[in-house]
Amino acid sequence: MYIVFEGIDGSGKSTQIQMLEQWLEDNGFRVETMVEPTDSEVGKLIRQFLQNPDATGDTFQKALALLFAADRMLIMDKLEDESKIIISDRSYISSLAYQEPFEWVSVLNKYAKKPDLVILLDLDAKTSVSRTSGQDTFENEEFLTGIRQNYLNLLEDYEHQIIDATNGVNKVSSDIKKAVAPYLGICPDCIL
Ligand code: TYD
Repeated sequence: MYIVFEGIDGSGKSTQIQMLEQWLEDNGFRVETMVEPTDSEVGKLIRQFLQNPDATGDTFQKALALLFAADRMLIMDKLEDESKIIISDRSYISSLAYQEPFEWVSVLNKYAKKPDLVILLDLDAKTSVSRTSGQDTFENEEFLTGIRQNYLNLLEDYEHQIIDATNGVNKVSSDIKKAVAPYLGICPDCIL
C-alpha cells in the first residue's frame, strides 16, 4: 500500500508519519518512509532553488515544476515494492497543489504513481504561519489559503481521508490510525 501525507507547511506531516510508522511496525507491518523532495542530486538542487531569493517569477516556477517531476521519477521503482507499506511525506499531489499551470503540471506528472490513500492534514493558513514562525504577511496567508483550497479540490480524485491537524499531536495521531485501520484490516474501535 502506498500512503501519502499531504498538507500545507506546519501541518505536522513528518511527526505524524513517524508515529504512524511506529504503530504499524508494532502491529507487525513492514514499513518504509520517504520524503519529497528526496535527497537525490535533483532534490538537493530543488532545495537550493527554494532558498534562492532571486529565483522567482514564472520561468523559475516552471523550471521548479520540472525538477520536482524529475526528482519524483527517480523514486518510481521504489514505489513498486509491494512487500511493504510505503508512507510518503508529499507526492505529485503537492506539485498539483503548489505549481502552475495545472494542466501542464498534470502532464509532467502523468507517469507518477497514484497513491492508494491520501491523508490530508488539514490546517488553516493562520495556524500554519504561526506554527512555522513564517512571516505573517497577507500575501503569505493568502498563498497558503489558496494551496489549502487546491488540496481540498484535488482530493475528490483520490481515495482520501481529511484529518483536522489543529488538534494536539496525540489526537491527530489517533485520528490517523482510525482512518488507516480499515484499509489494513485493523479494527478501528480497538485504537485508543
Ligand atoms: P517540505 O520539505 O515538505 O517543506 P518544509 O521546508 O516545511 O519541510 O517541502 C518544501 C517545499 O516544497 C514546501 O513548501 C512545498 C514545496 N513543494 C512543491 O511546491 N511541490 C512539490 O511537488 C513538492 C514535493 C514540494
